[in-house]
Amino acid sequence: MAPRVSLKADILRKLRNTKVHISGQELCDDLGVSRTAVWKVIKQLEEEGYDIEAVTNKGYLLLGYPEILSGSELMSRMNTIWAGRKVYFHKETESTNEDAKYLAEEGMDHGSLVVSDCQTEGKGRRGRTWQSPAGEGIYFTLLLRPRFSPDKASMLTLLMAVSVAEVISGLHPELDVKIKWPNDVLVNGHKVCGILTEMSAEPDYIQYVVVGVGINANQTFFPDEIKDIATSLRIEKGEKVDRPALILGIMEYFEYYYGIFEEHLDMSAFVDIYDRYLINRDREVRVLDPLGEYGGIAEGINDRGELIIKLKDGSYCTVASGEVSVRGVYGYV
Ligand code: BTN
Repeated sequence: MAPRVSLKADILRKLRNTKVHISGQELCDDLGVSRTAVWKVIKQLEEEGYDIEAVTNKGYLLLGYPEILSGSELMSRMNTIWAGRKVYFHKETESTNEDAKYLAEEGMDHGSLVVSDCQTEGKGRRGRTWQSPAGEGIYFTLLLRPRFSPDKASMLTLLMAVSVAEVISGLHPELDVKIKWPNDVLVNGHKVCGILTEMSAEPDYIQYVVVGVGINANQTFFPDEIKDIATSLRIEKGEKVDRPALILGIMEYFEYYYGIFEEHLDMSAFVDIYDRYLINRDREVRVLDPLGEYGGIAEGINDRGELIIKLKDGSYCTVASGEVSVRGVYGYV
């Protein structure tokens, strides 16, 4: 019998959820597979670095696990209802956004998650590339099939930015986490996370949206082009961070926030929390508008996720998209 794709994740989840030995027979009965299939998975897990004690007549006990990013590690720890319940994991891929778009065209479900340990052609916004070295960063894309109209989709990026900010702050409370409007997440004023959202839609109907997230987790070095603007959680914290824990946390937050967003179809429920993270708030910003550059003081976002700016003459304007540079924060465009 061919092993089920998620059998490894199922066994790992069962081992994680108990503090006593679990017998091979119990695993077979619960999961509906043979003793050999269970034994094979246990061997694979041991080879991957999981420390599993096997005691005759008692069974298996998970004593320790490695910091490993894999599909079964993620699925065995995922506690969400739909976000990331199905994980497509790659050791290496060109771009998880491209993979997710392919899966979307193939009809994969809302909430499917593509994760890779490394990207050879990671994509940033505005045609830039996203440095994606193996074993260090986090690169994932969440496939969504929203039931709302395409004009709301840009707000999903802001929801993801708040989810990332909340999870980094929750797991690493000593870090000063901020959001640079609309969706860069910064730590100590340097970029740790970028988000690239892409959509396939008709004028009034979304086929799918893919939200791609890159997080500088455990990098210790950045190439010259980005070393002044980028940092990693490891550099700021002084120790390695648990990549799966961050991905799992982000899935939980995003799923929760998405449910709220679907009720309101705007950012009204998130304005306060978003503004608390907003590095631009009460600071001078320059808006690099194609029709001309102008400046003002950013006051926060409105219900549509636009940046509210108070101009020098006391009037207000809003910025829907485009580049905003913030004095005192990295000044790239
Ligand atoms: C930015 O320019 O700030 C956005 C960067 C987005 C990078 C992520 S990494 C995972 C996903 N796959 C990609 O090719 N890009 C996004």
